[in-house]
Amino acid sequence: MSQSQSQSDVTDLIGKPRVLLVYYTYTQQTQRVAEAMAEVLRERGCDVRRAAIEFTDKRWAERFSRFPLRHAYRDILGMLPAQLRGATGEIQLPDEARESDYDLICVGSPTWFFKPSVPIRSFLTSDAAKRLLAGKRFTAFVVCRRYWSVNLRSVRKLGTQQGGEYVDGIHFTFAGGQVRSLLSLFNYFGKGENRERYLGVKIPPSNLKPDYVEQAQAFANELADGLGGNRQPQDNGGKGT
Ligand SMILES: Cc1cc2nc3c(=O)[nH]c(=O)nc-3n(C[C@H](O)[C@H](O)[C@H](O)COP(=O)(O)O)c2cc1C
Repeated sequence: MSQSQSQSDVTDLIGKPRVLLVYYTYTQQTQRVAEAMAEVLRERGCDVRRAAIEFTDKRWAERFSRFPLRHAYRDILGMLPAQLRGATGEIQLPDEARESDYDLICVGSPTWFFKPSVPIRSFLTSDAAKRLLAGKRFTAFVVCRRYWSVNLRSVRKLGTQQGGEYVDGIHFTFAGGQVRSLLSLFNYFGKGENRERYLGVKIPPSNLKPDYVEQAQAFANELADGLGGNRQPQDNGGKGT
């Protein structure tokens, strides 16, 4: 019997590993990573659920209810006080994030002022997160313009405080140096599309770089290895594609 045959027999016997991808997304970049990961995890024999957190708190929800933002600078900078004090607020969780029998939980966390966004912090400190994470393995994927490390560490810390066992993390950044990527971000949030120039300066796109797909797939493959999922369809020796 081949190794892949025996592994899928084991999966049949013990049931598919259950994976939850839970994230907040405003401009869909975190969701794109979640989709790329979900596809690979499914191919590897996992039962995958995605849960996008809804940011419903009346203090901030209105500005994020449309894209582009009505007032890019004011709306973004207006989140600074809440982010600095580590505020939490009202969120709505889909049913998928209310079940508790997952083998692995992947938290998708966009960076807002270096830290996890209000909705992700609200989720990670919630009773629902405790039910999901207690005694379970979890991982984090950070999506940001540039600053990922504080965010990733915070997700790790908050998830661990809820009883989760942190296994790994990954981050995805946008193109461009400090100034150009920041100008590009304000352009994107204000105009709703990437443009060649902003305030006369040539700017890169304010979205995931094209190689995010391979990175997300390789990461998902590593996670599937840890769950004992089926071998990769291409059977390339367990390396990411
Ligand atoms: C309020 C706000 C604050 C942000 N602050 C930062 C930051 O400090 N560092 C950074 O690299 N990106 C920052 N960004 C950019 C976001 O990280 C980026 O837009 C986000 O990851 C995109 O994910 P999404 O498309 O899933 O919403 C900020 C975005 C917003 C809306």
